[in-house]
Amino acid sequence: MAISFDNKIAIVTGAGGGIGAATARRLAGLGAKVALTDINMEALEAVTKSMTDEGLEVFCSRLDVTDYDAFLALVDAVVTRWGGVDILANVAGGGVAAASQPIELMEVDAWRRNLELNLSGPLCGMKAVIGPMRARGGGAIVTVGSLASIRMSTHGGAAYTAAKSGILGLTRHAGFEFARDNVRVTAVLPGIVDGELMKKSPPEATNQARSSIPLGEMTTNEQIADAIAFLASDMAAGITGEYLVVDGGMQIGSPTSSKIYFEARERRLAEQG
Ligand SMILES: NC(=O)c1ccc[n+]([C@@H]2O[C@H](COP(=O)([O-])OP(=O)(O)OC[C@H]3O[C@@H](n4cnc5c(N)ncnc54)[C@H](O)[C@@H]3O)[C@@H](O)[C@H]2O)c1
Repeated sequence: MAISFDNKIAIVTGAGGGIGAATARRLAGLGAKVALTDINMEALEAVTKSMTDEGLEVFCSRLDVTDYDAFLALVDAVVTRWGGVDILANVAGGGVAAASQPIELMEVDAWRRNLELNLSGPLCGMKAVIGPMRARGGGAIVTVGSLASIRMSTHGGAAYTAAKSGILGLTRHAGFEFARDNVRVTAVLPGIVDGELMKKSPPEATNQARSSIPLGEMTTNEQIADAIAFLASDMAAGITGEYLVVDGGMQIGSPTSSKIYFEARERRLAEQG
């Protein structure tokens, strides 16, 4: 069986970013009509234009994933335009700088903003699509977590670890709850992705990252997109409530580096006096 999304309709959040754009491109390339969403309209419009130029059936719309009413309106617009929703890829997320502090320095408000983006965002998406998916006889929801979902974040702080870990609980629970609607719910956990962040990092950091990966290379946006496409497809028809780690073997090899973590913590505490 080959993966085909012919006649499928998908929504991708964070589609202006590295993993989201690759995911939108992969789903559309396999036949889906795709609604691309993000808060960064400049990036979103550029991705959408290049896909439209290639003849793919896509449109884009601004969507802040933490705004449930806006998510409902987006889903409504997709149903009106194309007749339903089959796939939701919850990709939007990332670090909130102020929440990456050691716990005793982190503002509680920054913690809340991080959870809002990385955990409440995917929940808003699930709530918004479940009705239309049930009406269509089923669907698939795939959320992007992180290696921090099962270990801990080295640079993102406790808030990112907690939010991304929460994705697993939400995925498990929703997978069970939506099973009778034939809606499967899964998660993909990337390790270190060779994206914009790594491109801006000094070569030492890139080399250090690479050396912690047993397969020897950082994963690519396209490899994460492939995993999302697989879990969204009929090839994964027997999988729900589960997650797939795509990290080049990082988590089976080395634990989070205590040295890096504690050095950064000491530095930050010292900066605060
Ligand atoms: N890059 C990595 O190494 C890595 C590792 C593990 C997990 N992840 C996760 O992968 C996902 C995608 O990350 P990426 O590497 O493509 O990063 P990215 O920064 O390239 O893309 C993230 C996108 O999300 C958008 N976004 C931010 N807040 C939003 C909001 N409130 N509503 C809608 N969109 C919003 C941003 O504008 C951006 O386009 C994130 O959930 C991230 O936590 C990334």
